Amino acid sequence: MPVSLIVLAAGMGTRMNSELPKVLHCVAASPMLHHALNAGRSLEPSHIVVVTGHGAAAVAKSALAFDEAAQTVVQDPQLGTAHAVAQAAPLLANATGDAIVLYGDTPFIRPETLQSMIEARAQHAVVILGFEARDPGRYGRLVVKGDELQRIVEFKDATEAERKITLCNSGVICADVKTLFELVALIGNDNASGEYYLTDIVGLARAHGLSAGVVICDEAETLGVNTRAQLAEAEAAFQSRARAEALENGVTLTAPDTVFFGMDTYVGRDTIIGPNVFFGPGVTVESEAEIKAFCHLEGCHISRGASVGPFARLRPGAELAEDVHVGNFVEIKNSILDEGVKVGHLTYLGDAHIGEFTNIGAGTVTCNYDGVMKHKTTIGKRAFIGSDTMLVAPVTVGDDAMTGSGSVITENVPAGAIAIARARQANKPGLAIKFFEKLRAVKAAKAKGQ
Ligand code: UD1
Ligand code: MG
Repeated sequence: MPVSLIVLAAGMGTRMNSELPKVLHCVAASPMLHHALNAGRSLEPSHIVVVTGHGAAAVAKSALAFDEAAQTVVQDPQLGTAHAVAQAAPLLANATGDAIVLYGDTPFIRPETLQSMIEARAQHAVVILGFEARDPGRYGRLVVKGDELQRIVEFKDATEAERKITLCNSGVICADVKTLFELVALIGNDNASGEYYLTDIVGLARAHGLSAGVVICDEAETLGVNTRAQLAEAEAAFQSRARAEALENGVTLTAPDTVFFGMDTYVGRDTIIGPNVFFGPGVTVESEAEIKAFCHLEGCHISRGASVGPFARLRPGAELAEDVHVGNFVEIKNSILDEGVKVGHLTYLGDAHIGEFTNIGAGTVTCNYDGVMKHKTTIGKRAFIGSDTMLVAPVTVGDDAMTGSGSVITENVPAGAIAIARARQANKPGLAIKFFEKLRAVKAAKAKGQ
């Protein structure tokens, strides 16, 4: 059955004290909005609607960056969660099946939890995700009788007795998409806040003879972020889970507390990760690779047996084939390194393709940018690039070719050739000794003069 996703992301997030809309603040190097969309992605939604408000343009751009099929709608003014959901109705007029409502500032709902909500729909017309709160605070309370959820009461509107309930509303709900919008259209704003509460849907469903039920998840999943302190807590919670999972999956972490994973980092079995390694979005590392200390990786793929670092930076589009070696102080962007390539030290490779078993000497730079456009460097198989070679792109070096150290390569190098592009050396016999004597004399004269 198809599933539509509605992500509420209009709120201002006043307590973040930020120019940036709250849902664009990052946890594990990805905006919170992407975490919510990522959880929903596992359901292979037929439609995705993000309800925007504060910072609508930036939030819409971020939603599209995650999934170009995402639709957005602006909610202005923001009159409550039910009003927010209602904005999605025109975009989902042709949708069938279920709809799930998520919050953009609640990044940790697990895909499995959403799946159990869909399954619980076999018993109930409306399914709410609840949790047992250690400190129920101002959460909405779930009033349950037997297997049935009777209603949700917001803290502000709750009686003393209802406030004692510890089973709370996470905000995530699931219902048939048509039923959802029919019921939401009936919700009023006669309550302590004067807002249109999505939570009223439960009482309304029952009044229409429909049943409502609860799926319970761990409180950690429902962690919402309202302040920078909570953002830091969310980061810590994410990282400690990601580290534990990596260890469980057969990855060695020499100093787990110093490794920072991204939302979608994948690391294969028997890979070793040294201390102080940072993963941005979109990194995959296959099995039996090694990432040594102090590496910064984003948007890259590292194949089996490759070794990277210490102190390497792999930027988006860095593709390392099997057994590639990337050493210290090497930066690689948008470049493919075929099997067995070695780039040991102090090098920048950008917009390049390096053929298998080629060796790139220390201090090599692909001069890929002319101030206006980027250009490509292509190096063949088994080539040897001498230390301190400047490769002024666009340029091609053939298979089995060599460049002399210190060369500035501005023309293509044919296969098998050696290119030397630097001034010829001239030795002046005895000149160094004379020069030193002269310098010492100047220094002595200066000292006398003082
Ligand atoms: C809501 C629930 C409460 C639940 C709690 C869980 C309602 C009425 N209450 O309360 O039962 O325990 O979440 O965290 O639903 N939003 C919009 N447009 C609006 C209002 C809100 O997009 O007009 C978005 C916010 O950006 C946020 C989410 O909806 O992502 C929840 O809104 P918030 O104001 O935080 O609701 P709570 O009062 O916390
Ligand atoms: Mg809230």
